[in-house]
Amino acid sequence: MKVTVVGAGNVGATCADVLAQREIANEIVLLDIKEGFAEGKALDIWETSPVNLYDSKTIGSTNNYEMTKDSEVVVITSGLPRKPGMSRDDLIATNAGIVKSVTENIVKYSPNAKIIVVSNPLDVMTYCAYLSANFPSSRVFGMAGVLDTARYRAFLATELNVSPKDIQAVLMGGHGDTMVPLPRYTTVGGIPVTELIEEDKLNEIIERTKFGGGEIVKLLGTSAWYAPGASAAQMVEAIVRDQRRIFPVCTWLQGEYGLSDIYLGVPVVLGKNGIEKIIELDLNDAEKALLSESVDAVKSVMAVLDNMNASVSE
Ligand code: LAC
Repeated sequence: MKVTVVGAGNVGATCADVLAQREIANEIVLLDIKEGFAEGKALDIWETSPVNLYDSKTIGSTNNYEMTKDSEVVVITSGLPRKPGMSRDDLIATNAGIVKSVTENIVKYSPNAKIIVVSNPLDVMTYCAYLSANFPSSRVFGMAGVLDTARYRAFLATELNVSPKDIQAVLMGGHGDTMVPLPRYTTVGGIPVTELIEEDKLNEIIERTKFGGGEIVKLLGTSAWYAPGASAAQMVEAIVRDQRRIFPVCTWLQGEYGLSDIYLGVPVVLGKNGIEKIIELDLNDAEKALLSESVDAVKSVMAVLDNMNASVSE
């Protein structure tokens, strides 16, 4: 069974590496537009197989989509990453063109694939892939919530000095500074987090989570890759192993949460068909207000994409 990762930059290569090491797919195609780049990264990954003792094969390709034929899942990481001082939204003009052409090529060779978008600005790039793919929305979605909750859980594990494995959390909204962590739905070994941590400290962690991507950009001068790559690989695993995991996923909403025609992070069941089910939580007024801010932020970037598309078709 084949999984394709488009974009052999830091996030794509990390995702391919995790997929291989954990034997999530037995064939991983890493594709990039830059001559020889994906081949080089794929070869380097394959050369770890005798050391790390696995037999999943990673193969590189310079923009030859024929090699991606019949992929079960495709992860799109292509596009520019952020530089310090940039918001994810600053990337829209460049990355929309890239995501559109990648998606068109992917669907030509893998008409039954599930597509996971990782490119930024995430929610709107997922929308862009959806418009280009012409697939049911259950097969086009974005990776953000797994990463954002991973950051939130990691910060909580450090603060509480407990295993990150025992921290369960859900987070909603767009992948940006208006994302909505939900302390009411955060537990540590089954115990509500609010019983283990002072409110001020929890709020501090929530704020840090919202700007978690920016924190890394400031430190490294470019965006993160270990956690984003591993998070995308975890979504691939849920699909190819039909695990029916519950993750926050950037999903096309049609009436859920009273919202329509928008891609937004909400909890879903992820399995072999992609999004098997959207879970609707009964949000309180404060949570609804935060979610609505996030909706406005995502809609304003969607409008930029819609205007760009309108001017292209005029
Ligand atoms: C981040 C980028 C990948 O949050 O959006 O690190």
